[in-house]
Amino acid sequence: MLVAPSILSADFGKLNEEIKAICDGGCDYVHVDVMDGHFVPNMTLGPVVVNPVAKVATKPLDVHLMVENNTFFVELFAPLKPEFISFHIESETHPHRLIQKIKSYGIRPAIVLNPHTPPEAIEYLIEDLDMVLLMSVNPGFGGQKFISSVIEKTKKLKEMINRRNKACLIQVDGGVNDKNIYELKEAGVDMVVAGSYVFGNENYSKAIKSLQV
Ligand code: DX5
Ligand code: ZN
Repeated sequence: MLVAPSILSADFGKLNEEIKAICDGGCDYVHVDVMDGHFVPNMTLGPVVVNPVAKVATKPLDVHLMVENNTFFVELFAPLKPEFISFHIESETHPHRLIQKIKSYGIRPAIVLNPHTPPEAIEYLIEDLDMVLLMSVNPGFGGQKFISSVIEKTKKLKEMINRRNKACLIQVDGGVNDKNIYELKEAGVDMVVAGSYVFGNENYSKAIKSLQV
């Protein structure tokens, strides 16, 4: 299981140290939550903050956009050279076009599904995707309770991926911890995002390793 700690739960008063600690602690990616105050009822990070994060991080960035104007934010974050940029299917009218745009920057495209959105919504996009992110909480905040229907959804999505593009990864984000990690693994999840579980632990390295099952 690949692990991407979400820096939303980090202590922003010592962000450099926090980034260094998760990278030294053995994480696989650094998950960056970008919220615009419109698509979700919260606001977070712009390039002014994420640029120094990108400099300190020794692991690749995984940028999760929770915004209305996806194209604008893709253009804003592309110069930081993240490995992945993911955008929500619920906020994009022309997802196929946006996928091509992300690829044109040499960045791996991913699409995010809110808890209520069925995997069929992206069936004809799977060939063009490197990853699908299934939200296991309503996007906007860290520290929420895991919505367990994501397990069944993962299994459905896995079948679609096996038929259409076996290289496409499944990521789950929200309420992930050392208890539900095993059923996520069994359902076919490749990567988890974990915010409060990792940063709420005294030993980040130990927390990360407990998810790398
Ligand atoms: C929620 C964000 C998540 C969040 C996860 O909108 O996308 O990445 O930070 O935090 P936890 O692991 O605390 O649910
Ligand atoms: Zn996220």
